[in-house]
Amino acid sequence: MEHPQVTVYDHPLITHKISLLRDENTGSKQFRELIEEIAMLMGYETLRDLPMEEYQIKTPITTTTVKRLAGKKLALVPILRTGLGMVSGVLSLVPSAKVGHIGLYRDEKTLEPHEYYCKLPEDISNRLVSILDPMLATGGSASAAIDFIKMRGCKNIKFMSIIAAPEGIRKVSANHPDVQFYCGCVDERLNDNGYIVPGLGDAGDRIFGTK
Ligand code: URA
Repeated sequence: MEHPQVTVYDHPLITHKISLLRDENTGSKQFRELIEEIAMLMGYETLRDLPMEEYQIKTPITTTTVKRLAGKKLALVPILRTGLGMVSGVLSLVPSAKVGHIGLYRDEKTLEPHEYYCKLPEDISNRLVSILDPMLATGGSASAAIDFIKMRGCKNIKFMSIIAAPEGIRKVSANHPDVQFYCGCVDERLNDNGYIVPGLGDAGDRIFGTK
């Protein structure tokens, strides 16, 4: 993939877990657990450039300079409803992160995405924002979610998806060259119904057991 702001995590553990996710025989309980585990593994890598600062402590032996996380605090923003499945995985790494929510629908006439729900931490403009959505398909809702979050003054945005379609990557990276995108794999294409091929079907239905 020729997009400098896209990182694909081809780690064996992530790839193995994505294969299990794809299997139609994987039930909701295991599917949910896998989404959470993959989100945690991806979060670990995605947050490797968090800024650090030095400070002094006394060990039982001597005084020394050590490092801790500095400055930018984190906000996770799952896109409703599938992004919810990824929240606990990333929170297990950064329990103090704030969590906002954004919900979008597509106007049937104009096809424009609209927010139907948006509740974000008050200080979100001072935070590093990680947007979560397991499936980056057309890139329409991802792009719109980033637009809405930028409107709240956020400048430091990362977008995490588990499976991405090439069409979605092209759209979001063209619309938002300042955003860094992370995914577990890039699939072949979208089908005529907007599903990722080979994909894993409808992530929301599989997480929540609604079908
Ligand atoms: N959303 C899904 O849940 N699955 C797809 O394949 C595409 C979008």
